[in-house]
Amino acid sequence: VPVPPKPLIVKDLEPEVDDGKKKVTIFFGTQTGTAEGFAKALAEEAKARYDKTTFKTVDLDDYAGDDDEYEEKLKKESLAIFFLATYGDGEPTDNAARFYKWFTEGDERGEWLKDIPYAVFGLGNRQYEHFNKIAIVVDKIFADQGGKRLVQVGLGDDDQCMEDDFAAWRESLWPEMDQLLLDGDDPTAVSTPYTATVSEYRVVFHDPEDAPLEDDNWSNANGHTVYDAQHPCRANVAVRRELHTPASDRSCTHLEFEISGTGLAYGTGDHVGVYCENLSETVDEALQLLGLSPDTYFSIHTENEDGTPLSGSALPPPFPPSTLKTALARYADLLSLPKKSALMALAAHATDPTEADRLRHLASPAGKDEYAQWLVANQRSLLEVMAEFRSAKPPLGVFFASVAPRLQPRYYSISSSPSMAPSRIHVTCALVLDKTPGGRIHKGVCSTWMKNAVPLEKSHDCSWAPVFVRQSNFKLPADAKVPIIMIGPGTGLAPFRGFLQERLALKEAGTELGSSILFFGCRNRKMDFIYEDELSNFVESGALSELVVAFSREGSTKEYVQHKMMHKASDIWNMISQGGYLYVCGDAKGMAKDVHRTLHTIVQEQGSLDNSKTESFVKSLQMNGRYLRDVW
Ligand code: 2AM
Repeated sequence: VPVPPKPLIVKDLEPEVDDGKKKVTIFFGTQTGTAEGFAKALAEEAKARYDKTTFKTVDLDDYAGDDDEYEEKLKKESLAIFFLATYGDGEPTDNAARFYKWFTEGDERGEWLKDIPYAVFGLGNRQYEHFNKIAIVVDKIFADQGGKRLVQVGLGDDDQCMEDDFAAWRESLWPEMDQLLLDGDDPTAVSTPYTATVSEYRVVFHDPEDAPLEDDNWSNANGHTVYDAQHPCRANVAVRRELHTPASDRSCTHLEFEISGTGLAYGTGDHVGVYCENLSETVDEALQLLGLSPDTYFSIHTENEDGTPLSGSALPPPFPPSTLKTALARYADLLSLPKKSALMALAAHATDPTEADRLRHLASPAGKDEYAQWLVANQRSLLEVMAEFRSAKPPLGVFFASVAPRLQPRYYSISSSPSMAPSRIHVTCALVLDKTPGGRIHKGVCSTWMKNAVPLEKSHDCSWAPVFVRQSNFKLPADAKVPIIMIGPGTGLAPFRGFLQERLALKEAGTELGSSILFFGCRNRKMDFIYEDELSNFVESGALSELVVAFSREGSTKEYVQHKMMHKASDIWNMISQGGYLYVCGDAKGMAKDVHRTLHTIVQEQGSLDNSKTESFVKSLQMNGRYLRDVW
């Protein structure tokens, strides 16, 4: 006999504020702000639709002080909605990491989320192997633990149009939320297609004479005791050099940030986040399109003059008072694809009605194909779009709030070890320089900045950047005698240079080292065999037992690291059998996938295992932290 569904009982989230309203929590795990934006947009719309319910958006990191509190609070949720981004090798965002670890480790609790209504929307990119893994896992555990899934997990795809995926998922959510929250009332609002509200900062213009010297904003930055993305540390560029030979038509920069005296520390295998600046040619173009003077000196605010918060959706914290030139260089993402909400904001300020109409059309459901074709397929930048719609000159408060997203830090795998370079963070960065299908020459913001950086060894007026360290779990085994297999073509070599520096330091200190093999790949020995001398030195000194290089463009056929791995299959199997660790670093879309497949083949053939045993063998290597990937 089918059991009739239990009526959903909506409990109060915070009984202490009993205003008779139901309470819903919308969580976000965000890195660049998109998940947070969706969470807040949903909350705003839901507030209008359900006037008897309170909606709260919560950063997952701020939800609970410790794991017990997570459990206690989550069990009391009336409805929990999650916006969760997936990064790198199927990882959660930094602010969701603690929650995710705790949530996924709680599998054995058994129905502890019984009847709690929930919904999950994921933010990911279909080009990657672990497409929306975090959202999928959280959705499944919630269901397994007895939670009441309101709608299918939403799979936002950044490769296409995340905003459309969100809009479609949200449309599927309303009827379910109506049932849960309206108690038979009619919705108080009709649904509209997703357009984030055109929010804006309050802008105050100051006398340009009062503008501080550019670097003054940074004079105190080194006073912080803890550095993170919100509190980066100013670091000078001490050394910069080109790693490719002149014969190469590409470029790869070796850069060293000076960190002595700053208190900033790092570990081998960690990442460095770098806030770089737009090129002056990019800034000049933006100034021209906005029709404003570079010396305009202004500040942006999220409160009204009387100190009350501005209404509308929450904005990122203001940047310090700046000249427009500096603000555009440091804080505005000018070269990414504009979001549909940015098109709507431009439309609202286009003085030419034809342009305004076309912008609105591009952002509308009817303009979906045109958006996909004209914008996405051609990789149009914000500046290109503004150049096409010249009458759209939004005021600064709108421009920085709704048109140009905040320029995000770029993360690099650190290519040094503190045992060799305690006062320097080394970065190995390939130049991003492509021609887009739309015909624009795209210069990667940070890689171009690094290539052009002026090092301290050349000038006292050297380049600098706000930087911070993000810890990783990409670490050498605690026991140096454990064998290690490293696979890192191209700039995937970066963390292994750090590993080898650390092993060399250990060896010099008299530690016994286990065997190690490095698979490196590049196009041609004479062009892009980066750090060749250093690698030979590591072999000579015994820090590295064997170096295997695949040259992809020397012979008539492509030789990749995974082909070389097949040649060394029995050595790899022996090392793994001795408890060895395997590390992969580099491109996630092609290389890491192919290497993963090759590892399967090696395990299957060498271990004479069937398909499912091979699967579980590789899985267990991963689970035990012996197969680690740092991929992007
Ligand atoms: P290619 O450019 O000749 O295709 C570093 O970028 C090296 O990785 C280059 O030699 C590059 O070769 C190679 N590479 C490209 N795709 C790869 C893949 N799927 N697996 C392994 N190596 C790859």
